[in-house]
Amino acid sequence: MQVDLGGKVALVTGAARGIGRAIADRLAREGASVAYSDIAAPTEAANDPRHMALALDVTDEAQVAAAVDAVLARYGRIDIAVNNAGIGTGPEDRQDIDKVSTAQWERVLKVDLTGVFLVSRAVSAAMIRQNSGRIINIASVVGLVPLRLQSAYVAAKAGVANLTKSMALELAKHNILVNAIAPGSTETDAWRGWIEDASSEQQALYTRLLSHIPLGRAAKPAEIAHAALFLASPGSSYITGHVLTVDGGWTAGYSRDF
Ligand SMILES: NC(=O)c1ccc[n+]([C@@H]2O[C@H](COP(=O)([O-])OP(=O)(O)OC[C@H]3O[C@@H](n4cnc5c(N)ncnc54)[C@H](O)[C@@H]3O)[C@@H](O)[C@H]2O)c1
Repeated sequence: MQVDLGGKVALVTGAARGIGRAIADRLAREGASVAYSDIAAPTEAANDPRHMALALDVTDEAQVAAAVDAVLARYGRIDIAVNNAGIGTGPEDRQDIDKVSTAQWERVLKVDLTGVFLVSRAVSAAMIRQNSGRIINIASVVGLVPLRLQSAYVAAKAGVANLTKSMALELAKHNILVNAIAPGSTETDAWRGWIEDASSEQQALYTRLLSHIPLGRAAKPAEIAHAALFLASPGSSYITGHVLTVDGGWTAGYSRDF
């Protein structure tokens, strides 16, 4: 898919690596000026003078305001905001609900849900003034079909899916489209570390996970980026409040035989 995003300005959170980096690079490739943001500014990502790098912790209200101001000061507008920054529940934190600490719960909710709220609130104010904009939230299949042992992440991502719809309803009158992508397992660095771990326990876990995916493989970050590009493009002008699964069929039903 080729899209002309020339003259458009995008802000992507969590753009230092993984899915966020793939999305930011793809929007840039199609002509957008991109503000690559992450906890530490990913300066090497924004080496083209058309782009900028920003230090932005999405849980910090003051940093969110400063980052949005910096993008507006540089480009005068924000056309596309991608709420990608997120943290999962690492294997060491996977526990039944009776063992989840309040700190663990709040840590995940703060980044994965409150972060989306804070950035969306700040960019939507600018987009309302422009009377146009696209907000794209990166949710997860587990926000639609929960897994065990990851209650905070599951709840946060379910929140992102419904926050997306709620914002779509409110912002439609300002010509702002709000959609989400729910990726399934995606081959990021963390994933690669996992599949390259030769221990039989990890390999068994990997095989089990793949057996749940009808297409039999994880997504490439570029495949999630492709969906984001579509939601940022003129071709999706009548789509808002949608959660687009990009999951190899994960949420279509049971892929295994009983
Ligand atoms: N990889 C997957 O299998 C998968 C599946 C479904 C959904 N997702 C979602 O996709 C998004 C990206 O995941 P990924 O796999 O690329 O992860 P990743 O860990 O590779 O990258 C996440 C990025 O977000 C940044 N980040 C973390 N906390 C932040 C904060 N408070 N403020 C700003 N930046 C912060 C990190 O520094 C990192 O660069 C996340 O929202 C994740 O939940 C990933």
